[in-house]
Amino acid sequence: MEVIRAIKEMQNRANLWRRENFIIGFVPTMGYLHEGHLSLVRMAKRRADKVVVSIFVNPLQFGPKEDYEVYPRDPEKDLSLLEREQVEVVFMPGAKEMYPQGYQTYVEVSNLTQGLCGAFRPGHFKGVTTVVLKLFNIVKPHFAVFGEKDYQQLKVIQRMVNDLNLEIEIVAAPTIRDWDGLALSSRNTYLSQEERRSALALYQSLKLAERLILGGERRAERIRELMQEYIKKFPHNRVQYIEIVNPETLERVDLIKENVLIALAVYVGKTRLIDNKLIRVEG
Ligand code: PAF
Repeated sequence: MEVIRAIKEMQNRANLWRRENFIIGFVPTMGYLHEGHLSLVRMAKRRADKVVVSIFVNPLQFGPKEDYEVYPRDPEKDLSLLEREQVEVVFMPGAKEMYPQGYQTYVEVSNLTQGLCGAFRPGHFKGVTTVVLKLFNIVKPHFAVFGEKDYQQLKVIQRMVNDLNLEIEIVAAPTIRDWDGLALSSRNTYLSQEERRSALALYQSLKLAERLILGGERRAERIRELMQEYIKKFPHNRVQYIEIVNPETLERVDLIKENVLIALAVYVGKTRLIDNKLIRVEG
């Protein structure tokens, strides 16, 4: 496994592989890897001749009051985990390599970024699409794998790829959960033991919503109220949003008639966690 830090070197390597007709699979990450990331890497390994994983905590996607400075980082552990997965290259650029002095170009997907997390994290998705497009131009993958845990991000990237005619397949990978249902996230490391117990309310409330819908409840407002009540029973929890949306457009649904995505963001203490569930509804 090789670690590449320079953009030009990564591009040269990708050009060489492409000349030799190798299929390049790509997994972009911000590091502090857990089983969720490793499941994306394994998915890429199954389909690609060469797998590149990037590790870059992208300053552009953090708001001024967010956790960029303290975002968990452990590059040595990340590299040893990736070595074990036998990835070919880890691309680990520095912030100055990605955004040198004078940098002023950004990519923005408009409608899909308005609701859900976009409503509370202004500029976040602009930061994500900008860095992902840059990474695509550097790594030159045939396909890239993104987790459904960040469902809105997945949809936004798919939109960007379609709208800008990028010849890259976006592969969606299912959310990986702990034994009790908590979705894996690098930010789970911020949680105290008691907060970890309260954090389970996210998944449990999604299961509650699923039971309600399968039991015939169709009023989105009612379901959101019951989810909110459930989550608030646990100490430390403060709901930022609970939304029931069309899984493709991410527009709010009032009366549930077909498949919906239920997505939520909850502060558990100071830690903001997100989760979501696609609920299949017979027409
Ligand atoms: O999902 C993430 O970890 C990040 O948003 C990504 C896609 C690596 C871009 O920085």
